Amino acid sequence: MARETRLATDNLIAPLFVTEGIGVRQEIASMPDQFRFSVDVLVEEVATLHKLGIPAVALFPKIADALKDPLASEGRNPEGLYPRAIQTIKKHVPEMMVITDVALDPFSSDGHDGLVMNGQVLNDETLDVMTQMAVVQATAGADIIAPSDMMDGRVGTIRAALDAHGYTDVAILSYAAKYASAFYGPFRDALDSAPRQRDDIPADKQTYQMQPANVREALREVTLDLDEGADMVMVKPAVAYLDVIFRVKALCDVPVAAYHVSGEYAMLKAAAQQGWLDERAAATETLTAIRRAGADLILTYFAKPMAQWLREE
Ligand code: PBG
Repeated sequence: MARETRLATDNLIAPLFVTEGIGVRQEIASMPDQFRFSVDVLVEEVATLHKLGIPAVALFPKIADALKDPLASEGRNPEGLYPRAIQTIKKHVPEMMVITDVALDPFSSDGHDGLVMNGQVLNDETLDVMTQMAVVQATAGADIIAPSDMMDGRVGTIRAALDAHGYTDVAILSYAAKYASAFYGPFRDALDSAPRQRDDIPADKQTYQMQPANVREALREVTLDLDEGADMVMVKPAVAYLDVIFRVKALCDVPVAAYHVSGEYAMLKAAAQQGWLDERAAATETLTAIRRAGADLILTYFAKPMAQWLREE
């Protein structure tokens, strides 16, 4: 009766990794209980999540090294793994909303979210590539396009391209305040997408992702994305940035998402495996705190177990 914050299954979005092959269910070493699924197994997993009441999945592709190049060409291949995965989910579990990721890193031999040239990540040239990726994803059936790259101007450019191709009903969830965080490590293991060591450019994303010390800048990023047509905005990571979620929620009237990222998941899982924390209690408290800070939606690798725990309550 006195509870101020509710955590429900329909607040949860499950991130999922997809890989080539048949019958593949490969556990990710740094993310216990998370897997790279081939498309056939992925569809079964999505059907299970749908039965549990989870409204959306966020898909990430693990691309073979041989298909990666500096232009991230595979990200624009309409027959590639990613569009095939989207199509198959929408065919077999049409009610599940599919959120797709727009950024170059899974497809790029440089491992950066943008095009790399002369020791720089190029902002405007990247926009062109990203809009093509977004159109391929929308054509495959994506319901929500989520640009995760932090290039300036991409929300407006992607919105215009989607509209021009007739995808006026495809929404944009912008990774608006995405920090250059140490907590993405396990995710980069999962996709083998870490920025590559090169002489001319640092192997981190600090020139385009935000520095952890800033919060006013986050509000500016959110304002820009809303002006460009974002339908929802995201703060990422979540637990180390609860104040940012709170401030963003106060600033805007669109749904606010928070990404409880791979490193935040891995810490809880590792401690639980050691017997140092009670996994269910710690995960429930963490996700409730993210809701309390103001997140309407939470992308979390705990989506499936949390949905099961909520059923048992
Ligand atoms: C890449 C992307 C990243 C994540 C989602 N999309 C990693 C990065 O920016 O390097 C991280 C998610 C997680 O850690 O769970 N565009």
